[in-house]
Amino acid sequence: MIALSLAEIAAVVGGQTHDIPDPSTQVTGPVVRDSREVVPGSLFAAFVGARVDGHDYAPQVVEAGAVAVLASRPVGVPAIVVDDVQTALGALARHVVRRLGATLVALTGSAGKTSTKDLIAQVLRHKAPTVFTPGSLNNEIGLPLTALSATEETRFLVLEMGARGICHIRYLTELTPPRIGLVLNVGTAHIGEFGGREQIAQAKGELVEALPSAQDGGAAILNADDPLVRAMASRTKAKVVLFGESAEADVRAENVRLTDSGQPSFRLHTPSGASDVTMRLYGEHHVSNALAAAAVAHELGMSAEEIALALSEAGTLSRWRMEVTERPDGVTIVNDAYNANPESMRAALKALAAMGKGRRTWAVLGKMAELGDEALAEHDAVGRLAVRLNVSKLVAVGGVEASWLQLGAYNEGSWGEESVHVSDAQAAIDLLRSELRPGDVVLVKASRSVGLESVGQALVEAGTGRGVDAR
Ligand SMILES: Nc1ncnc2c1ncn2[C@@H]1O[C@H](COP(=O)(O)OP(=O)(O)OP(=O)(O)O)[C@@H](O)[C@H]1O
Ligand SMILES: [Mg+2]
Repeated sequence: MIALSLAEIAAVVGGQTHDIPDPSTQVTGPVVRDSREVVPGSLFAAFVGARVDGHDYAPQVVEAGAVAVLASRPVGVPAIVVDDVQTALGALARHVVRRLGATLVALTGSAGKTSTKDLIAQVLRHKAPTVFTPGSLNNEIGLPLTALSATEETRFLVLEMGARGICHIRYLTELTPPRIGLVLNVGTAHIGEFGGREQIAQAKGELVEALPSAQDGGAAILNADDPLVRAMASRTKAKVVLFGESAEADVRAENVRLTDSGQPSFRLHTPSGASDVTMRLYGEHHVSNALAAAAVAHELGMSAEEIALALSEAGTLSRWRMEVTERPDGVTIVNDAYNANPESMRAALKALAAMGKGRRTWAVLGKMAELGDEALAEHDAVGRLAVRLNVSKLVAVGGVEASWLQLGAYNEGSWGEESVHVSDAQAAIDLLRSELRPGDVVLVKASRSVGLESVGQALVEAGTGRGVDAR
């Protein structure tokens, strides 16, 4: 964080200082909410959780070097006491980003936020020091904590913004007002909570409503291929930059193809030039993510060549997103078990089909959560797609949604043991342990709650001769 005195922080958050011998003492380290992340100079934000109360850790964080605790009650060690720690954290983030010399880039969308944010960061850091959301910390606590981790040197601050309802994104943009706002797509993730795709579009579009005008440098980066995103152009005063495969996009891809190993390759066109990209990431869905990242980078002054090079070098920074492991025995494991929704299921299955040309392919799939009334139809459609893409074996894992997946495959023409339904992750591991043979490619994917990452992990370890149980 930029150095701030405890007195200044207390004034910014409207808090009372308690047990602070010298209010001019400065916080120089990061602001953290996990006591294990405290380093000398930190400010520790004490949250009251369902199981743990951060206030209980106050003596130990000060012992570890924290300058003070941001707390909702006095704790017997130096503290700034406020009514609500989350609100205070937000106020502090707002104050700090105003003082930073950094350009703020914010992005939202239904699928691919974290993947794209990681791409943007890996491109922009070729140009200047960049701070970005770690993992998927995109809510009202993760966002201010990320913003507060920026320093005087930071030139680009890239923030993932998540929404579970109307006004969520607006709140986040009030804490950290972006100059550049990117909307990736409007899909069906969390549709059950929102009520419908129009409501999701309404919520995501709050990002572009918050941008400054074109004269003040505001830029809305919108997906030309997604009609609900494209329509957000009318909701912003900012300059509109379109990305996508559509001909009207300012930043586009031509000659898109997947290499035999499933990695996208294309010619990147920007308003100021073109250059070729071959990605290290797997799956066609990364083309859209890469174009979005390219549009942001172009807006910030990078050339097509610089962007193409950075995109071609970019790797996965966040786990279980199309994480590919080649086992010594020639089995390829694709662990995409971080999450699943209909769009990402389709993208992953297509990548599996590309990677598995001439090989035996396995799709180990589980439920996609939060689909509301569309759950049955969407699971059925994924089961059918697996068959249409000629996936050799479908293993549907878990409860009733898995049975819909398998039934979809069956109705599309899979027969015999081409599609099976197993009860849980361990049953999937047991089945694959006995069935996999050299040359096979296995995709593992479901919503996070199904916990299929354990299957991916166990299968990777099976190839090294280590333990394979998830029990
Ligand atoms: N453009 C895309 N279209 C469809 N699926 C995608 C896209 N980009 C990534 N995915 C897939 O979607 C899943 C989630 O990816 P990612 O974590 O990047 O999304 P997210 O929007 O950050 O999710 P969350 O809402 O959980 O934060 C992964 O399985 C990934 O492979
Ligand atoms: Mg995310």
